[in-house]
Amino acid sequence: MVKVAPSVLSANFAELKKDLDSIQKYGADWIHYDVMDGHFGPNISFGYSILKDVSKVTNLFLDVHLMISDPKKYVDEFIKAGADLITFHIEAMESEEKTRELIEYIHQHNKHVGISIKPATPVSAIEKYLNDLDLVLVMSVEPGFGGQSFQDMAIAKIKELKDKRQDAHYLIEVDGGINAQTGKLCKDAGADVLVAGSYVFNADNRQAAIDSLK
Ligand code: DX5
Ligand code: ZN
Repeated sequence: MVKVAPSVLSANFAELKKDLDSIQKYGADWIHYDVMDGHFGPNISFGYSILKDVSKVTNLFLDVHLMISDPKKYVDEFIKAGADLITFHIEAMESEEKTRELIEYIHQHNKHVGISIKPATPVSAIEKYLNDLDLVLVMSVEPGFGGQSFQDMAIAKIKELKDKRQDAHYLIEVDGGINAQTGKLCKDAGADVLVAGSYVFNADNRQAAIDSLK
């Protein structure tokens, strides 16, 4: 069974606790927390102080997606704020050495670590790190906004990551434009975790939306 990770980017922040309670009640497995700095991508979202508040009102696994230019600079704050898993973008890293340092650093602080690749970035760009990762986040939209359309190129990457996994242990997560139809394509290709923002939070029936992804 796949895990469902609603993205709070699409939540109503004026009633965030109500939204968090509802997705927990309706069977969400994780909370996907989209951090954007307006520099790595074209949008600004929220940071670690809100994550701290979120961690106090939910028991769900906090899946933090850092769409920021300098993840090392802020990783401590997200660790302290209660992140369970921290995913950074390979496109934001200046060298293999710095990438390996960040993976090691997050693990040393007893947190799970993931690397995310944008639609234009091939799996080969992160192949050398796969054995050290707990998760790979395949973006099926450009980082920045909820409600975009699913890009089919993600399917081949999921299959490639599944084939490459062998004795590695990373989960395959897909993020962007996920609904019942695209979610099934991703599951059939081998995805372990589905991120869904607008499909869940804009649904008239959130229970049915989450159930349709499992
Ligand atoms: C996009 C974010 C995604 C987005 C998903 O930059 O990383 O997590 O919030 O939203 P939907 O599911 O609406 O595409
Ligand atoms: Zn995301």
